[in-house]
Amino acid sequence: MILVTGANGMVGSYVKGVFVEERLALTDIPEMDVCRKDLVFSLAEKYKPDMILHLAAETNVDRCEKEIDHAYRTNALGVQNVALACQHLGAEMVYISTGGVFDGKAGQVHTEFDLPNPLNVYSKAKYEGERLVAALLNKYYIFRAGWMIGGGPAKDKKFVGKIIELCKNRKEIEVVSDKFGSPTFAQDFVKSIKKIVHTKNYGLYHLVNTGVCNRYEIAQEIVKLLKVDVKIKPVSSDRFPLPAPRSASEAMRNYKLDLLGINPMPEWRQALSAYLKEWQK
Ligand SMILES: NC(=O)c1ccc[n+]([C@@H]2O[C@H](COP(=O)([O-])OP(=O)(O)OC[C@H]3O[C@@H](n4cnc5c(N)ncnc54)[C@H](OP(=O)(O)O)[C@@H]3O)[C@@H](O)[C@H]2O)c1
Repeated sequence: MILVTGANGMVGSYVKGVFVEERLALTDIPEMDVCRKDLVFSLAEKYKPDMILHLAAETNVDRCEKEIDHAYRTNALGVQNVALACQHLGAEMVYISTGGVFDGKAGQVHTEFDLPNPLNVYSKAKYEGERLVAALLNKYYIFRAGWMIGGGPAKDKKFVGKIIELCKNRKEIEVVSDKFGSPTFAQDFVKSIKKIVHTKNYGLYHLVNTGVCNRYEIAQEIVKLLKVDVKIKPVSSDRFPLPAPRSASEAMRNYKLDLLGINPMPEWRQALSAYLKEWQK
């Protein structure tokens, strides 16, 4: 039995289709508010899961910058509540972190052996979540994801979804070209989690689609795949000021999985193409 938190989110929307053989308890706010230890413990007691797949988080990076208590309550103390429930039950825990823990310079690609130095409140809280999981549990997996892609027309409010929408009625779109990262198709991500948790190689892993790019390159690829006549214009991030600072590079490679010979993630262009096909179905 796997208990899933944040199951209604972008990543959560792939869990049912991937973990088909497992018994699942799919939960989300408000019936499972991870900020409330009493609720976390009562649902953990009810389902007695072998694993908690902890997907719940406040993922709005700019909101976290403005609502600091909310960010730490959800993304750090919420993780502590789930980790304590796992400790209580002897259950395994899967926690999702972010490449935003790094303060990289343009062109830098981070491995699991690089030291984090998060620049914004969201990433600081997510990093604190990592430390809490590692301090409280032995049987855990921490997967750092990159720029998440997924959800389809109903749920995708992120970059790819926005570009697809803009392509419908614009001739030119300005896109930032000085911030680098690693796209992560949520379906590939969940499928890979399933494979890795079967190995019992507990620990911290980077789990992104292979390759590094900037947002401008992703937008160009979307236009190419959709075969639309839209010009993508590269601009500096100064053009779109945001409340939360972002590092020039949060790109990662799945170095530990490469070393173990079990890196299941496809290249990012391949992943984007698969996602757009899913979108157009
Ligand atoms: N999205 C990304 O680009 C990205 C990148 C790297 C890592 N991650 C991590 O990946 C994991 C999954 O993210 P996602 O992309 O699936 O995010 P998402 O689409 O925002 O889903 C998160 C889910 O958690 C729910 N939630 C928020 N606060 C909660 C609480 N207190 N208790 C229980 N549920 C709560 C959300 O509900 P509401 O929608 O009602 O708030 C939502 O259904 C998170 O740990 C996130 O930090 C995401």
